[in-house]
Amino acid sequence: MASMNFEDPEVAKFLDQTYQLLKEDALQKGTDREYPVMNFKHPNELKSLLDLDITAGPATYEQLLEEMKRMIQYSPKPGHPHYHDPFYGSLDAYSQAGSWLSSSLNVNLHTFEISPVFIVLEKYIFKKLCDLVGFQHGDGMFCPGGTNCNFFGLHLARFKKFPEVKKTGMFSLPTLRCYISEDGHHSLLKAVNYLGFGGNSVVPVSTDDRGRMLVSDLESSITSDIEKGYMPLMVMATCGSTVLGSFDDLTAISKVCKTYNIWLHADANWGGGVAASKQHRHLLKGSHLCDSLTWNLHQLNGLPEQCSVFLINDPTGNALEEANSARAEYLFQPDKHYDISYDSGDKTVQCGRKSDVVKLWMQWRALGDSGIEARIDQAFENARYLTEKLRTNEGFKLVLPEFECTNVCFWYIPHRLRGQLEDNKWWQEIGKIAPKIKERMTRTGSLLIQYQPMSNKGFVNFFRAIIHNPLCRPRDMDFIVEEIERLGHDL
Ligand SMILES: Cc1ncc(COP(=O)(O)O)c(C=O)c1O
Repeated sequence: MASMNFEDPEVAKFLDQTYQLLKEDALQKGTDREYPVMNFKHPNELKSLLDLDITAGPATYEQLLEEMKRMIQYSPKPGHPHYHDPFYGSLDAYSQAGSWLSSSLNVNLHTFEISPVFIVLEKYIFKKLCDLVGFQHGDGMFCPGGTNCNFFGLHLARFKKFPEVKKTGMFSLPTLRCYISEDGHHSLLKAVNYLGFGGNSVVPVSTDDRGRMLVSDLESSITSDIEKGYMPLMVMATCGSTVLGSFDDLTAISKVCKTYNIWLHADANWGGGVAASKQHRHLLKGSHLCDSLTWNLHQLNGLPEQCSVFLINDPTGNALEEANSARAEYLFQPDKHYDISYDSGDKTVQCGRKSDVVKLWMQWRALGDSGIEARIDQAFENARYLTEKLRTNEGFKLVLPEFECTNVCFWYIPHRLRGQLEDNKWWQEIGKIAPKIKERMTRTGSLLIQYQPMSNKGFVNFFRAIIHNPLCRPRDMDFIVEEIERLGHDL
């Protein structure tokens, strides 16, 4: 065993068997309602079920296959139609094929000569995505995850205001401030930590009762900071907030940003997918007014993790290169025999970079604009169906009357707590219900939905079903309601 030669018949057989296993156990059974969403084991039990030892001699092909089978068995199946926990996980054959193509070719996207095809694909895709969000002079970059894309937004905002930062660092800069709604993603806090601004530079802005940034509060925070001698640098607007799915008003925020000369970055990691739908793209109204925008295509668009794009509205056309270039002589020789503007590696902070673009291109090419649009519309339709079903069932209470995105948030009310005065004591009891049901659903593996409290709004633990799987039908929405009733009626 352990031959490195792909033509070796044993290796070829091993790969064929691997493919069969992935196709049948991970993809087919992993998306089949007849099989569980997960087979949960506590850490120590799991360690005893897996043969982790790699210090012994080489394993046989049979042992490797057996181990992969077990890894599949004990891994949750995010593509399952009863898995509404994460923002990622929908599966399709085309982006899977793209993923395999990407890892089989194993090219690295820093220069054209080592990744000509995928660099051309990237340029094409950036133009397509920029057109969808209305960036006339757009450019883009794939980053490892949406959090990193948001880092990129802050990094670009700082560079555009203080280009000297690239040489002299933060030392001579005024104290900078960034603004985000209190419901915005914690990646901004990570970004200020990572980029040396410090946590105090983040100013949380209150939200209205639907979780959208209060633009009047944004403006008063900005003016008060200016009076104190701080310099407002960036507003990170949220397009599809992580918990409630709310969309900030980009047009109104942009007006404030223009008045005070502030960079407007949109975190559309979750909600960006609506750009592909004529019915829902109004939620991103004003996106063309942003300076930059990030879009996790592994979320609403359902690409395999990770597929995250940073887009910049850049009339100069070279902001990414100027902000990031290090001009390594061994990679970016000026006297190459081809058009070196295709050597895109210096437009980012990374050296090596994965070809995530191929997964996206394959999915979009296979489904076409109309197929992508149908998939987004279907997710919204399923979410609407579930919301209405919960609204009319006495065992459930919606957290908001309507949801802007496909996050459906609700409390389950067990029989003993129905029809009672909803005082503090009652809410305390309700807050204990979701963790108990979550434990039961995890143990049975029948359904997975996340729960959380939301202390800034005074909400005790509630369920948040994230609906985006294109395999989901109304009967899967019915199942959510029936299964939670089954698991929680006696609590
Ligand atoms: C609104 C929002 N921003 C950023 C992120 C972070 O994305 P990633 O997990 O790819 O880093 C998420 C993840 O769910 C999100 O919902």
